[in-house]
Amino acid sequence: MSNIEQTLSIIKPDAVERNLQDQIKSEFKSNNFEIIKEKKIHILKEEAEKFYKVHESKPFYSDLCAYLSSGPIVVMMLQRENAVLENRKLMGATNPKDAEDGTIRKKYGISIDKNSVHGSDSVENAKIELDFFFKD
Ligand code: CDP
Ligand code: MG
Repeated sequence: MSNIEQTLSIIKPDAVERNLQDQIKSEFKSNNFEIIKEKKIHILKEEAEKFYKVHESKPFYSDLCAYLSSGPIVVMMLQRENAVLENRKLMGATNPKDAEDGTIRKKYGISIDKNSVHGSDSVENAKIELDFFFKD
C-alpha cells in the first residue's frame, strides 16, 4: 500500500546565506521528493518563537529563535512515500558531526545550531508546521 505524505522542510539561514538552496533542493528531488510549495521568507523572532514553541524550556531556545529569524529561509512542502521519515533520514542527525555520510547535514551543516535544514519529526507535527507556513 502506498503512503504518500507531506512534510515541512526549511532551508535555514546558514544555507541560504551560502547560496546552497539549489543544491539542497536537488538533494530532495534526486531522492524522489516533489516540492509542492515553496517560498523564501524572512520571519520575525516572535514567529520563530511560535514555530519552535515545543523547545521553549530548552537552554538553546532563545538562540535558536534568534538564529532562525536572522536571515532569509526557504520553506517547502515536500511530498513522497513516507515523506516524514524519509526526510529525517536524508537530513541526518541534528549535529552534523554525528550525521552519516551522504546526508544533507553531513554535507552542508556547519554546527549543531547551523545545521542547514529543518524537517518535521512526525506526521502530526508535519500538519501543524505546514499549516504554520502555508495556511492561506
Ligand atoms: O532539528 P532536529 O529535529 O534534528 O533537532 P531538535 O532537537 O528538534 O532541535 C531543533 C533545533 O535546535 C536543531 O535543529 C538545532 O538547530 C537546534 N539545537 C541547538 O542549537 N542545540 C542543541 N543542543 C540542540 C538543538
Ligand atoms: Mg525537531
